[in-house]
This record gives sequence, structure tokens and C-alpha cells, in this order.
Amino acid sequence: MRFLEQNNPENTFFHLHVARHLRSFERHPEKLTEEIKKIAEADLILWSFPVYYFLIPSQLKRFMELILEKHAKELQGKYCTCLTTSIHFFDHTAHDYMQAVCEDLGMKYLPDLSAGMNDLLKQSFRDNFLKWFDDTNKRASKNSPAVTKFLPVKANQFKYEPRQPTKSSDTKGKRVVLVSDASESDHNLVSMERFFCTCLEDKVERIALKDLGIKGGCRGCLNCGWEGKCIYKDGFQKIFRERILTADAIIFSGSTKDRFLSARFKMFFDRSFFLGHRPELAGKPILWLVSGPLKQLHTLREFLESHAGVSKTLLVDIVSDEVENSERLDALLADGATRLASAMQKPIRKPRMFPAVAGSKIFRDFVYLASAIFRADHLFYKKTGFYDFPQSKRSQRFANFSLYMAMHIPSVRKKVQHQMTRLMLRPYEKIVGSLESKKS
Ligand SMILES: Cc1cc2nc3c(=O)[nH]c(=O)nc-3n(C[C@H](O)[C@H](O)[C@H](O)COP(=O)(O)O)c2cc1C
Repeated sequence: MRFLEQNNPENTFFHLHVARHLRSFERHPEKLTEEIKKIAEADLILWSFPVYYFLIPSQLKRFMELILEKHAKELQGKYCTCLTTSIHFFDHTAHDYMQAVCEDLGMKYLPDLSAGMNDLLKQSFRDNFLKWFDDTNKRASKNSPAVTKFLPVKANQFKYEPRQPTKSSDTKGKRVVLVSDASESDHNLVSMERFFCTCLEDKVERIALKDLGIKGGCRGCLNCGWEGKCIYKDGFQKIFRERILTADAIIFSGSTKDRFLSARFKMFFDRSFFLGHRPELAGKPILWLVSGPLKQLHTLREFLESHAGVSKTLLVDIVSDEVENSERLDALLADGATRLASAMQKPIRKPRMFPAVAGSKIFRDFVYLASAIFRADHLFYKKTGFYDFPQSKRSQRFANFSLYMAMHIPSVRKKVQHQMTRLMLRPYEKIVGSLESKKS
């Protein structure tokens, strides 16, 4: 932001540090009203933030909630865009979320920019950065049309009336923890939790996010990188380590708020950053109970699924109340409970898909080059074989190199290319027998 300001002296920049003023905005709504008035006078609004945990930091999430609750109409028609820094791990979900919320506010969202965290040090980036800002500024001043990307969300009106559940899922001797963001007014979510937990044989241990006494959002100080210890002394880390990391299965439960879960849930995830980039929840069966229009919230679904993939947990199911009737939700919950219980006894570990595989590689490369700060991650990665750089696969590299050299000989290349499919299938014959097509 400072770089933009210094290079655009003809523009006046007005900065609002959201996290710094959040408490005051919550306690004194008139202060927020004043700031919103100032924001609404701007020709262009730049949402500028570091990507935190697949999304925007919890502090900014809360700020967006306050705007949506009390000032939903005041930024209508204003031009805006996002400027973020990150290591390009799920920066697209953070940008999509912000664009969707801005569109909900009736703002005109211009093409955004996601910078790598050290990009500003590169001349080539700086040149393009200034061009981007110049273009954005011009588009805003020329009243250019802004392309929209998301449909408005239709609220879910369904009221869940559960029947009497039966205990059907054997969890004897296992510790199941429910991490819940439900408040009394969340009728559907509270009913879903109650029905689901009754289906399980043993008592479920409930952790209410609102009672955890989390003092604040992650400050990004990275002190946790060395030993995995957070600077906050509010007991969150202890609870996370002693009650959540030790559970045999976890149920997460939350209602949607704007286009994600609540800022409180976001704070819970941001603060779990003391785990660094280590999948310490690996292998744990997880089930999500979500109340809200999940099918319309692609970013939230991507978060739920990709978070499970990257953290190597076993995502048993995501059950939402977006259903035709209560009987169907009863059935889905009962089935989810059975599968959660079975995942604890006989887990099915499925190969991970692109977002999780790609995300883990980004972490691997990042931690390798930042081990001085993320020492705890580095030691964990060394111990658990996370550093799976292809360069260390010596025999595979040697075989590839030999073939690479041989392929320069036209007759060999012709032969290999002619038999490509057969050669690719040959290793599998050890497992399934001959794959030669049978002549009739
Ligand atoms: C709690 C926390 C969560 C983060 N989550 C992500 C993430 O999901 N994706 C990503 O690319 N970077 C993530 N990062 C890295 C930051 O986005 C990145 O370092 C950013 O450049 C920090 O900006 P700052 O120096 O302005 O704080 C995270 C950092 C922290 C502290």
C-alpha cells in the first residue's frame, strides 16, 4: 500500500486499519458509521490483506460481517478490488470470497491482484503492480462496467423438526469431540447436533467456541514457527492440544454467515496456525454439520473439502440442512453417524486430489526455504518424509535419464513410441496378469 501511495502522489490515500479498530467498532457502532461514511466517499476501495487460512483474516471477516449487518446499502455502486499477499496457497478462495461479499454489497469489483509475499522486492513485479493500479484507477474513474461472478444467495427457509433418533452407531471407548459454533438462536444447527450426537453410542464431548475465551485473532507474529507455541496466553492452544488433537473423531458444527462460517470460526482456524504447516490432525475422521445454503457457497465447500485434504483428515461427510424435509435430514444425520463410527474402527484412506496434493507441495517448498522461522515444521517434515522432492528419487531419476538419452536414437524412439501403451501397462501385469488384448 505504501509503495502504491508513494508512486501515485496525485491520488489521496486514506487508510483504515481494520484489526486495530475492530473492538472499538463493536463497542461503539457510531465510530464504524463514521468510518463507513469516509469509505463511501472514496473513488476506489482497496481491500488489502494477507491471506490467512484459505480466506481473509478473522478480523477482516468480522469487519465485513459488521458492514453486512449494519451498513449493507452504504457502499452500493462503489468501485473496489482486492490486493493480497500470500504464498499462493488458496489465495483464489480468499479473493473469491471477497468478490462475492462485495457483490452482495452491490459494489463494483474490478480485477484483483494476489502478490507473492516477497514479490515487491522484484522490479518486474513492481512495474506490473503499478500498471495494475493505474488500470484499476482509470477503470473506476471512467465508470467502466465491472463483471460480476456470483449469483445472489437465496436464504434457506427450511425449519428442521427431527424425530426421535435411535442409538445406532457404536463408538464405545472412543472420544468424539464436537466443536460447535451454535448459539441458542441456531434452531436447525442445535437440532442437528442433538440428533447426531444421540445417534452415537457414547457421550460426545462438546466444545463451544463462544465459551473458549479466545482473546483475539492471529497476529501473524510467527513466534510459533520455532517451537509451535503461540504468544497468546488465553488457553486456546492448551484446549486445542489436549482436547481436540487427542480426540478419536471430530464433529465441527457451524451456521453460515455471509458466504462462509462465522468470524469466530475463522478465528478458531487462524489461531490453529500454531500448528504451522504440520498436518497434526492427520488420520482423524471429521464430520461437518453446516446450517445454511451450502450448495450456493462454493468457496465454503472448497474450504471444507480442501482443508480436510491438506490436513490429511478423513472427511466422512458434510451434512447440511439444505434438504427437502426433516425425514431426509434425519436419515442423512443417522447415516453420517454410522459412517463416522465406522471410520474410527475401519478408516478408508482415499488418495488426495489436486487441491490437497498441490497445497502440500507449496507447503513443502515453502518450509524448506523458511526452516529458520518454521523450525517446528522443518523437523516434522524431515521426520515424516514430507520432503519428497522428485530430485531425491535417485533410481527413478537414473531410469528416466537413461531413457532420455536412449530416446535420442531414432530407432529406439520409434520403437518406444510404437509400443507406448504396452510399456505403460507392463508394470501392472505383476498385479493383474497379462494385459495383452486377446485375439478372437
Ligand atoms: C495465520 C496465518 C495463516 C496463513 N494462511 C495462509 C494461507 O492460507 N495461504 C497463503 O498463501 N498464505 C498464508 N499465510 C501466509 C501469509 O498470507 C503471508 O505470509 C503474507 O504475505 C503475510 O502478510 P503480512 O506480512 O502483511 O502479514 C498465513 C499466515 C498466517 C500467519
